[in-house]
Amino acid sequence: MRTDVLPMPAVLPRHIAIIMDGNGRWARSRRMPRLFGHHAGVEALHRVVDACGRLGIPMLTVYAFSTENWARPQEEVSGLMRLLADSFIRYLDRLIEAGVRIRHLGRTDRLPGDLLARIRDAEASTAGNQRLQLNVALNYGGRAEVVDAVRRLAASGADMTQLTEEQITANLYTAGLPDPDLVIRTGGEVRMSNFLLWQSAYAEYYATDKFWPDFGEPDLRQALATFAGRQRRFGGVVART
Ligand code: IPE
Ligand code: IPE
Ligand code: MG
Repeated sequence: MRTDVLPMPAVLPRHIAIIMDGNGRWARSRRMPRLFGHHAGVEALHRVVDACGRLGIPMLTVYAFSTENWARPQEEVSGLMRLLADSFIRYLDRLIEAGVRIRHLGRTDRLPGDLLARIRDAEASTAGNQRLQLNVALNYGGRAEVVDAVRRLAASGADMTQLTEEQITANLYTAGLPDPDLVIRTGGEVRMSNFLLWQSAYAEYYATDKFWPDFGEPDLRQALATFAGRQRRFGGVVART
C-alpha cells in the first residue's frame, strides 16, 4: 500500500511523542559503527519535524537520550553528546525559519556544558515560534521526572499529605504541555523504556519494526491513519451514535 498518498485523517493528534529507537541496529546492518546510525537518526528527525510542521501537528516530543543511556560505552555517550550539540547549531536556523519552538525535557546535571549552552540558546532563540513545538527529551527519565516534581513540591512547602495529581502534573518537566495523544516507537520493541510514564497514561501506542533512520513521512502518515481509527475511551464508555 502506498502510504505517501494516504489522505490526511480527520482526527489528528495534538501531541505526538516518539521513541526514536534502532539507530545502532540500523548501523550494524550496514557494518558501520553505532554513531553512524545516530547521525542518520538526526537526519530522520529533521525529516519528521518538517513533515509534522507541514501536516499541521502542533507538538512533537522526541526521546533523544534516557537517564539509563549513560550506561552505554563511554565512546558512544561522548559521541552522542557531541552530535547533539552540533545538531542544535547545524539545524537552528532552519528550525527558526520553519517556526519551530524548542524545549528541553530532562535533567541538566550530567549534560556537558557546551551542549547545555546550545540547548539554552535554541530555547531562547525559538521562544517566539508557534507553528510546531519540539520537545527534546534528553537525559530524560520518567521516574526521575516524578521524583524531581515531588522534590520541588516538598521544597516549596506544599502540604505533602494532600498532594494532588494536578500538583504533580504542574511540576513535571512538561508543565503546561498537553499530554501526548500518540506515542510512536520505532525499532521493533514494544515497551516504554521510562518515557513519559505519567503523561502517556491514556496515549495510544503505535509500534513499527522500522529502524529510526528509515522512518519518514509515509510511516508517519501510516501512524496517523492508525491513530484516527482508534477509539479512545479514557476509562469511560463509548457513546452510542
Ligand atoms: C536509539 O537507538 C537512540 C538512543 C537511544 C540514543 P539505539 O542506539 O538504542 O539503537 P539500537 O536499539 O541499539 O538499535
Ligand atoms: C529508548 O531506547 C531511549 C531512546 C530512544 C532515547 P533504548 O534503546 O535505550 O531502550 P531499551 O534499552 O531498548 O529499553
Ligand atoms: Mg535501542
